[in-house]
Parts: sequence; structure tokens; C-alpha cells
Amino acid sequence: MDENLSIKDDKKVETKVCKIETDGQGNIVPESMEKIKEAGAILARGGLVAFPTETVYGLGGDGMNASASAKIYAAKGRPSDNPLIIHIGNIEALDDLTKEVSSKALQLAKAFWPGPLTMIFKKKETVPFETTGGLDTVAIRYPNHPVAKALILASGTYIAAPSANTSGRPSPTTAAHVIEDMNGKIQAIVDDGSVDIGIESTIVDVSGQIPVILRPGYITKAMLEEVVGKVEIDPAILSKPDPHLRPKAPGMKYRHYAPKGDLTIVQGETKAVITAINQLVLENQQAGKKTGVIATDESRQLYQCQHILSIGSRNDETSIAHNLYSVLREMDNLGIDMIYSENFGEGSKGQAIMNRLLKAAGYKVINV
Ligand code: TXA
Ligand code: MG
Repeated sequence: MDENLSIKDDKKVETKVCKIETDGQGNIVPESMEKIKEAGAILARGGLVAFPTETVYGLGGDGMNASASAKIYAAKGRPSDNPLIIHIGNIEALDDLTKEVSSKALQLAKAFWPGPLTMIFKKKETVPFETTGGLDTVAIRYPNHPVAKALILASGTYIAAPSANTSGRPSPTTAAHVIEDMNGKIQAIVDDGSVDIGIESTIVDVSGQIPVILRPGYITKAMLEEVVGKVEIDPAILSKPDPHLRPKAPGMKYRHYAPKGDLTIVQGETKAVITAINQLVLENQQAGKKTGVIATDESRQLYQCQHILSIGSRNDETSIAHNLYSVLREMDNLGIDMIYSENFGEGSKGQAIMNRLLKAAGYKVINV
């Protein structure tokens, strides 16, 4: 039976927030386990439940149920040609969902699952085309988060879950972000506080001979190559959208992760960047625009601006990935019109961070 709601009819549903508690050792307490089981039952009935993963919050529905997938697209306002990732709770699930698993794919699964890696396989007939956006391949991820894992297993099915944001907005890294976008549209949100990594999984197509990165993420090319040798990167994701290059992950062609304000990245030697941003802030403020700066812990005191948000420390790029989306959302909450950001492309996760930031900025970059 389908969960009793009709998102298509725009009927508001009451979104239940289920707060998860853990004991001193980080184990989910029995009362919270009961809540996860109830949320699993909602998923099994075809309803929608947002839940935490180690990367970002996901908007879950039964990936094996075409009508549940349709509800996910409706709740997000997502184009129907942009396929969903199916989340599994053990490696054996691959047999139910895929036609073949190459030895390289198996090596990657053993090295990085559970974890922030999504792999693309040839799909079995049992996986509905509504979940894969009409493709005969399927994206699969085994998340490394105790709540996500317990929820998937409790549902008794496999969970299709895009990031739990309205299409085009920054991905949610807290339950509060999910509520901003999804309240009244989904049955429940499982709230386990802030996520760990903060940017979405690395996507690797393993359906051919050589693995190809379709979306950069926390797991880098070097980390993958250490396990399986040569790995390629889809050339369409390395630069500005190019009409001649079609990204292999359909979602990568859309403007994504964007704050409501107008974001520009200023690139160059740090001192010159700070001088340039201070000048831009002055000009915009004189023009009556509410202006904000995305700085770092090290640089924040060098700006003259009322709204300066630090994204983290240059000495700790995991902090930058972790705070990226919440800083973009915070700029929205402050009602900022013009946002200027430093560039954060140097470290090993720099490609994943800048992929998101450049899209959020619509590729607007000033070189100084
Ligand atoms: O970390 C993550 O991956 C998060 C959490 C919730 O697991 N999920 C996530 O899903 O980022 P989403 O829907 O926001 O992004 C999925 C991306 C899209 O760019 C989509 O086009 C691509 O994966 N994708 C899905 N299935 C695909 C397929 N069969 N072939 C190529 N790309 C695919
Ligand atoms: Mg997304």
C-alpha cells in the first residue's frame, strides 16, 4: 500500500522530526532505534523520510517502488532525467540490483564501503527506470552512518536518496536545513545533528573497463588509483559547462548548490584577494547592497564588512568541506545580495570543494 499522501496534489503533510540519541559509546539508544523502525516502515509503505549520512542528508524513498521515486522528484522539484542514488545496507545487496560487478568495482567496494563512494553499474530489470531517470545503469552507495544503515535495513528495501534539498539549493548538512526545504512535503526527518563530511559522495562509473569519476568528492582520484590503478575523470566536469561536452552524471549539468545571493569567487594571491574583496564590499555597500564575505579563520579579521562568515581553516580542508553548504545557507538567512568568496582549491579535496563552489557561483570568478 502506498503511504497516504499525494505530493502531486500539493497537499501538505505533517513532517515528523525524529531526534536520535546515542549513549556514551555512540550506540543508538533503544527508544531511538524504535523511531528508526517506524521511519523504516514509512519507507516500506512508499512514503518519504529524510535521514543523515556521513556526506549530506538524503531524501529517502523506496528505490524499488516507481511511485516512491516519483514522489522524491516532486518533493525536490527535480528534473526527471536526473537519476537517483540507491542506498544499500550491505554489499550483498549488489546481487539484487546489478547485472555485473567487475573485479575493480569489487576492489573499490572492499576498500571504501561503507563510505562516501557511489558506483555506477549496469542495472537489473528489477530496478525501476523511474529511479534511474530512464538509464539502464544504476548508482549505488553504501553509506557509513549508523542511522542511515539502521534505517535502510529497517525498511527491508533499498533506499533511493538524493540530497534532501530543493533542487538547485545547497545540500543540507543539518536537519534544520532539511526542514527549511522539505517541511510539509515529506513524512519524517530523522535528526542526528550535523553530518561529518559535508559534501556529497565521489561518483565513479565502474560499468566499463577503466573507472571514471563523474563527480569529485571526499574520496580522491589518488585514493582510488591506489586501489585499482588507472582512473579517469569525466572531462565535462573539470571546467565551465561546455555545450560540446555532456557530463556522464546527468545531475552535473545543472546549476547547483546555489545561494539566493549573487556569489563571486575571487582568486589569486591571498593578500591581493583580500584587498580586492574589501574594495568590492565598499563599492557594493555604497550602492546599497547587503554584502557578505566568505573568509577563513586565518583571514576573517582582515576584512572590513559587516557580514563575514568563516568557512573553516586553511590548515584543515576537511573543515572547509564541512562548512561549505551551511555558510551558503547562512548567507541566505542573512538576506545577503552580494557574496564574495576566497578560493579554496589547493589541497587534496580542493577539486571537490571548488566543483561545488564554482557551480554555486555560476562560474563567476575574478582573477586578481
Ligand atoms: O553523498 C551523496 O551521494 C548524497 C547522499 C544523500 O548519499 N546523495 C546525492 O544524491 O548527492 P544527488 O541525487 O543529489 O546526486 C546524485 C548524482 C546526480 O548528479 C546524478 O545525475 C548522478 O548522481 N547519477 C545517479 N545515477 C546515475 C547513473 N545511473 N549514471 C550517471 N550518473 C548518475
Ligand atoms: Mg544533490
